Amino acid sequence: MSAKIISGTEIAKQIREELKKEIVELKERHGVTPGLATVLVGDDPASKVYVGQKEKSCSNLGIYSERIDLSGNISEEKLLLLIEKLNKDSRIHGILVQLPLPKQINESRVICAIDPAKDVDGFHPVNIGKMVIGEKCFLPCTPHGILELLARSGVQTEGAEVVVVGRSNIVGKPVLNLMLQKRPAGNATVTLCHTKTKDLAFHTKRADILIVATGYPKTVTGDMVKEGVVVIDVGVNRIGKTPEGKAILVGDVDFESVKEKAAAITPVPGGVGPMTIVMLMKNTIQAAKNTI
Ligand code: GUN
Repeated sequence: MSAKIISGTEIAKQIREELKKEIVELKERHGVTPGLATVLVGDDPASKVYVGQKEKSCSNLGIYSERIDLSGNISEEKLLLLIEKLNKDSRIHGILVQLPLPKQINESRVICAIDPAKDVDGFHPVNIGKMVIGEKCFLPCTPHGILELLARSGVQTEGAEVVVVGRSNIVGKPVLNLMLQKRPAGNATVTLCHTKTKDLAFHTKRADILIVATGYPKTVTGDMVKEGVVVIDVGVNRIGKTPEGKAILVGDVDFESVKEKAAAITPVPGGVGPMTIVMLMKNTIQAAKNTI
C-alpha cells in the first residue's frame, strides 16, 4: 500500500478562496481592511522565510501588512514599547511576533504584552485558557490548521486513538486539547508522548491518527506505525542544500518507510506549513471583524 497524500497546499488554496470573499465583504460593507503586523527579531534564516511567507500571503489576499525587522540584540524593553504602539494602532488588527526570540528577551513577557484581541497567533494565556475550556478565541494556527486538514480530508476523529509526539506550547499541547474537545475534528482519545516517554513505539503503533511535532527528522519510522494510520507530519528540518543552494527540507517522520503502511500522510513541504499560514490569515480577518 502507498498512502494517499494529504495536500496542505491544495486545502489551503480552497480556504484562501473562502477568505477572499470575506475580505471583499469587509471592505465593501464596512470599509475595513484587515491589517497584520509581523515582527522579526534577529536574522534566523528559517524565521525570515516564515515571516516572508506570511507577508506574501497577506498581499495576495488583500490584507494590509506591516513588517518590522529588529536587530537580534534589541532590548526586551524596546520590543515591549513597539508592541504597546501596535496594540494602539487602529490599522493593525493582528500582531505576530515570530518565535523563537533571542536569549536576552523573555518570550512569555512579550506574548503577554500583546493585546489578546490582536493575538492572532493564539499564544496569549487568555486565549490559551479560553481554548482549553472551549470558549470562542483565537486558536493557535498550526494546531487549528491540522484540525482543518483532517476535517477537509474526511478523516474520522470521533473515538479515534490520536497519538501526538512532542509537547511544545505551539503544537503538541494545543492540538491535544483541541482534539479531545466536543468539536469538529475532535472527540478523539488523545495520548501525548514526549522525550521522557518510556516506549514511544508502543504508543505510536496504537495510533489511528499520529501527529508528530518533535523537531527531529525520522522520529517516527515505518516499523513504529500500524497499517492504515493517518500521519500528520508537523516538522520542517533543514538537512542541507541542493547544488543550486536551495534548502532541503524533511519532516519529523521518515516519509519513505511510513508511507508504505499509512492510509494517508502529509508531505513536507506542502503539508502542515501552508495551513499554518492560512489559519493566521483567517485569525487576522476575524480580529478585524471583531472590531465592527
Ligand atoms: N515559530 C514557529 N511557529 C510559529 C508560529 O506559528 N507563530 C510564531 N509567531 N512563531 C512561530
